[in-house]
Amino acid sequence: MHLPDFKVARTSNKIEYKKIRYNIEDKYKNKYKDKLCYLRTYGCQMNEHDSENIKGILEELGYGFTDDMDKADLIVLNTCSIRENAHNKAFGLLGRIKHLKETKKDLKVGLCGCMAQEEIVVNTIINKYPFVNFVIGTHNFYELPLILEKNEEENKQQVEVYSREGDLIEDMPIDRASKHKAYVNIIYGCDKFCTYCIVPYTRGRQRSREKEDILKEIDNLIKDGYKEVTLLGQNVNAYGKDLYSDYSLAELLEDVAKTNIPRIRFMTSHPWDFNDKMIEVIAKYKNIMPSIHLPVQSGSNRILKLMGRRYTKESYLTLFSKMKELIPNCAISTDIIVGFPGEEEEDFKETLDLVNTCKYDNAYTFIYSPRVGTPASRLKDDISKEEKENRLYKLNDTVNKYFKENNLKLVGKKIPVLVDGISDKKNEYFGYSDTNKLVNFTGDNIEIGSIVDVLITDAKTWSLDGKVSE
Ligand code: SAH
Ligand code: SF4
Ligand code: F3S
Repeated sequence: MHLPDFKVARTSNKIEYKKIRYNIEDKYKNKYKDKLCYLRTYGCQMNEHDSENIKGILEELGYGFTDDMDKADLIVLNTCSIRENAHNKAFGLLGRIKHLKETKKDLKVGLCGCMAQEEIVVNTIINKYPFVNFVIGTHNFYELPLILEKNEEENKQQVEVYSREGDLIEDMPIDRASKHKAYVNIIYGCDKFCTYCIVPYTRGRQRSREKEDILKEIDNLIKDGYKEVTLLGQNVNAYGKDLYSDYSLAELLEDVAKTNIPRIRFMTSHPWDFNDKMIEVIAKYKNIMPSIHLPVQSGSNRILKLMGRRYTKESYLTLFSKMKELIPNCAISTDIIVGFPGEEEEDFKETLDLVNTCKYDNAYTFIYSPRVGTPASRLKDDISKEEKENRLYKLNDTVNKYFKENNLKLVGKKIPVLVDGISDKKNEYFGYSDTNKLVNFTGDNIEIGSIVDVLITDAKTWSLDGKVSE
């Protein structure tokens, strides 16, 4: 048994890790033939991508997949810790699973993902959820075949979570959710330690993948017909810092652009690490999409400082303007937290002012949620829940206004859309534009996975309508 420990997670500074090529012993292959798994994923793209690997691993073991929990022989929850409601959802589902397990003794249940890295969660599972068969952390989920075996052999709950970051595992099996859009990890973990955030504890220190491994993965995706890659990391702009002295995200983006894959996206960017060279490269290559997610979190310098964000409103705005000026047609989206401890009405107004200046194309807005173990959770928080909800409401009202305004500017224009699928309505397709806007459009015999020019006919707050014209 290995239990998570935030003290270890916090203090592991100079880290050592190996690159390991995933290899599964023959004895595990098809061991669970004809068994079904229900896999539920919460949280960010990183977790969705991990789930694609978990699926790949389980398929090698012989598992098939079902959307019906009642039919499953194995239930895996790939969890998220970012806010309290993510916790609540996972625990809510565990409550339902408990009942299921009462009638289905052979059902196996496992928990992985970020919640598995939290001491408080693991202690609760051990003490109150004895029916959970295993808990496996973010650094070692590739050991799933071993943990399933151990659970069977010892017939008791297994907890295998490491607080020091794990090795980099290459060549893990994968079952991707899309046949034309792919996530590619470029960096794991985060070293920023924003005071409110749990990710550095659950995902460990920054570890970049070697550029050769990334480029090889993308070459293979191109051979398989993929049209779009999203380079993933908690902070992609820190790429390479731990590995190379003269190779950063700018150089990586340039090398990926030269593969000629039609679309490249990357997320998430931290404003602190965004340099001019990166902007130049994004502006230079047509296949790097003009769409940047640049979380600001707050428009008040006092709050930004308390959040440990390492930039000011002014330096953020300078970067923002540079992007808008140098990258043609650039859409910028953001994340904003309201109700951080000590946020006064004046601070919140500064956030609204900043939104009115930036007029974001998209924004994810959140009420601050204290995470046990983070420095911000120890700050005095005397803003009422009502006041926080009020601020969120006002903020949403403001950001939504600009989504619609920006979308309206596209009416009458032809924009490129990567076709994701066909909707329930006949002859209606949907996909995303170069600037990452959802477009619903009509057309005849359009191939899923192709990129088509769509004439925009109408704009809504969160989507565009259009048609493909000859
Ligand atoms: N690595 C990314 C963000 C990961 S989390 C980045 O730094 O941009 C996604 C978003 O969740 C954050 O940008 C932040 O706005 C929000 N978030 C993180 N911790 C939070 C907390 N404790 N309460 C509320 N929102 C939080
Ligand atoms: Fe969390 Fe900050 Fe790291 Fe983003 S940069 S994952 S908000 S600590
Ligand atoms: Fe959640 Fe972990 Fe992602 S906390 S947002 S699943 S990195």
